[in-house]
This record gives sequence, structure tokens and C-alpha cells, in this order.
Amino acid sequence: MDKFLIRGGKPLNGTVKISGAKNSALPCLAAALLTGETVTLHNVPYVKDLITQRRLLEDLGATVLTPELHTQKIKAANIEIYEAPYELVKTMRASVLALGPLLARFGQAKVSLPGGCAIGTRPIDLHLKAFERLGATVSLEAGDVIARAPKGRLTGADTFFEKVSVTGTENVMMAASLARGLTTIRNAAREPEIEDLAELLNKMGAKISGAGTSEIEIEGVEDLGAAEHVIIPDRIETGTFIVAAAITGGEVEIENCQPKHLQAVIEKLRETGVEIETRGADKIFVKRGDPGLRSKDVTTEPHPLFPTDMQAQYMALMTQAEGTATIVETIFENRFMHASELVRMGADIQISGNTAIVKGKTKLTGAPVLASDLRASASLVLAALAAEGETLIDRVYHIDRGYETIVKKLSAIGADIERITENLK
Ligand code: UD1
Repeated sequence: MDKFLIRGGKPLNGTVKISGAKNSALPCLAAALLTGETVTLHNVPYVKDLITQRRLLEDLGATVLTPELHTQKIKAANIEIYEAPYELVKTMRASVLALGPLLARFGQAKVSLPGGCAIGTRPIDLHLKAFERLGATVSLEAGDVIARAPKGRLTGADTFFEKVSVTGTENVMMAASLARGLTTIRNAAREPEIEDLAELLNKMGAKISGAGTSEIEIEGVEDLGAAEHVIIPDRIETGTFIVAAAITGGEVEIENCQPKHLQAVIEKLRETGVEIETRGADKIFVKRGDPGLRSKDVTTEPHPLFPTDMQAQYMALMTQAEGTATIVETIFENRFMHASELVRMGADIQISGNTAIVKGKTKLTGAPVLASDLRASASLVLAALAAEGETLIDRVYHIDRGYETIVKKLSAIGADIERITENLK
């Protein structure tokens, strides 16, 4: 298993370019299953999760061409299998995004039920309830969810999510695009990735309005067709690099980002003393202000509030701020696994239920640590960049799922980081 060796204490300086959003590219690839014509996606990040999603589409019978590293041309003309198998769903939960498109276009789909994952149980009951509202029959057989549409087609309906769900909203939006009649999604997720997917679907011929608000309306159409679309920049990668600049006391310009997609993060980091200047619509300049960082409390909430996907990185930053920060995680029940690793590096963090109390500023010292999930890995990289001495981070396959060429990007702005590839004997 690959590891990262990081020698910390060096301020990062320079320019970094943000990749396409993983969480937008994943549903957009799944959306290509809704048509037999070619869907071309640009700015697709070259990360492990997208390679897995591509494999899923190919296993189902789609042809996926990558004429350039960040472009994917998907033609799902000959789909013969309607199933996302356990081997794929267990490595990447987003494979459940195949369910909506398969059910809508072919009237049937089988997706292995995602089990527990490192950050909690993460059920898909709300996706399934909404499909039932659209007329599907849903059953569970040997760990697989089997969904069928009566007479092969779903019927539009009024749907309500008891809890805001990002992939749930995306799944239903895709399914409803080919349903008969009007679907309303109430208490829909409002993430920028939802808007991006709706934009692609509308280019394919769907009739969706209200994406980005908590009420989305979808007027079902008979067919969807070819489209070309550029994926939005990754707001979580952007936030991670803002913290990287701040935690090392550097000055970094972040290019190809969309500051408007991470306003809550930018505001919170400004409160802690990080200087963030937006330069036009797609650039940010970050500098750690004088006299240093102040602790500020944060609670994770659905968009547009502070994202759970930035909680771990924020915790790393708070170890370097003066005072006490209370961090409350409201989205996932087990998302503090980075805390014990940060403590091994010298942080003072107490966990009680869904609340973490971080006392700063503590001196961080390099140590061997273990990455447990994607964003937890990012927080360990950030802490290691600020720490004195060497940190060896194990299980970095988690970070490869969602951060494109992170070693190259960090090295280019002055980090001392290398990947150690272990050859099996
Ligand atoms: C997406 C993101 C992930 C992010 C999360 C929250 C993708 C591919 N992943 O995950 O990076 O951390 O949003 O912003 O976009 N829930 C249920 N039943 C359901 C669905 C969800 O109880 O059927 C619960 C979850 O357990 C969780 C909460 O709802 O507590 C939010 O989950 P959800 O928004 O669905 O997360 P994902 O879409 O899986």
C-alpha cells in the first residue's frame, strides 16, 4: 500500500490549479446511461472514483472513450446488464447513482445495497422511497436492491426527502427526467453539483427547473439525447488548498475555482484570521493574516452552510489556532476518525458524540499515521505540512479516490512530500 512521506514546516507559495469536481463528475457520468447517444464530459478529474465509475458504465455495456485525460465520451447504446455489483458498490458508494438512470430508461435496475462505510451507516432508504413514489416496486434480495417500473416506465409524482440527500436528489432527478408527467422534489439538496447535473440533463433534453433550490420540478420527456458539458471545479479541493496555504503560513493563488460555491467555508476561514481575496470569478488569493489564527466554532450542515467534507481539514487548522474551537458534525455519525491521528501528532482534541473540542495552539510533530477516509486523509496531509519533522501517512488510497495528483500539486508550491510505493515481495 502506498504511503506519503511529508517533511513539514515549509510555507506553501505559488499557484495551484483546481481540478473538476469529483462529486459532480460521478452523477454526470451516470446520467449518460439515460441515453443511447454520446455524452461528452470535459474537466473530469483523473481520480480513482472516476475510474471506478467508468468501469461500472463499461461493465453495463457502455463504451467510454477518453480522447484526452480529462474528457470522457460515453455512449450507452448497448446496455445489456442493469446491475451495479457489490464489488463496485463496496469500493464506491456513488455507484448507487446508476439506479435512477437504469430504472428510468430500462424499467429495471439491481444495485447492491451499500454496507456500512468508515464514516457511518449511510443508507439509501430515501432514494428508494422516492422511487416508490414514482411508481417503482422495490425489493431486497440477497443484499441487492431490485427496482422495477410498472410497464417499464416511471410516473412523475410529488416527492419529499425527510433528510436532505445529495445523491438521493440526483438519483431522483435523473429518474424523473424520463418519467411520464411532472415530478416535484421537495426538501431537495442544494449543492452546486446538483445544479451542474441539472444543467447537463437539460442539455440532453430534460426539462428541469429549480435545481439549486430546495424545490425542483422535472417535467418528464420521452427521450434524452447527446450533450457536451464542462464539469464545475471541485469546491472541496479548493477549500483544502485554502487551508493548506493558511496552516503553513504561505501565500497561494488558487486558479480555476468558483469562490461562490464555497462561501460558507471562505467566511468561516476569514473569521479565523485567514486572508482570502477573490480575484475575479475563478481565482482566490490566500494568505495567513497577522497575528495568526483564532479558534472559531463550526457546525456542518447541508449546502449552502459549512460542508461536512471540509470538517476534517478545518479541524487540522484549528489545532494551529489560539483558543478553543467546538466542531459539531451533523451529517455523518462517525466522522471524527482523523481526530485520534491528529492527537498522535500532538493535537489536543476531545470527542464527545458528534462534538469535537479542539484546543490550540498546539505544536504538531511528525508521526506515523493512518488515513481512514478521503477527507480524513486530507486533514492528515494538512497537519503533516504544518508539523515539525517527518510524517508517514499510510493507506493513501483513500486520498487517491478524490484528489487529483495531490503530490505533484503540493510539491509545485513548495511542499516536501513524496509518495512511497510499496512493492509486494
Ligand atoms: C454526498 C457526497 C459526499 C458528502 C455528502 C454530504 C457524493 C458522491 N458524495 O454523499 O461527499 O459528504 O453528500 O454532503 O456526492 N441518508 C439517509 N438515507 C438516504 C440517504 C442519506 O439516511 O437514503 C443520510 C446519510 O446517512 C447522511 C445524510 O443523509 O447522514 C446525508 O447524506 P447524503 O447527502 O445522501 O450523502 P451522499 O449523497 O451519500
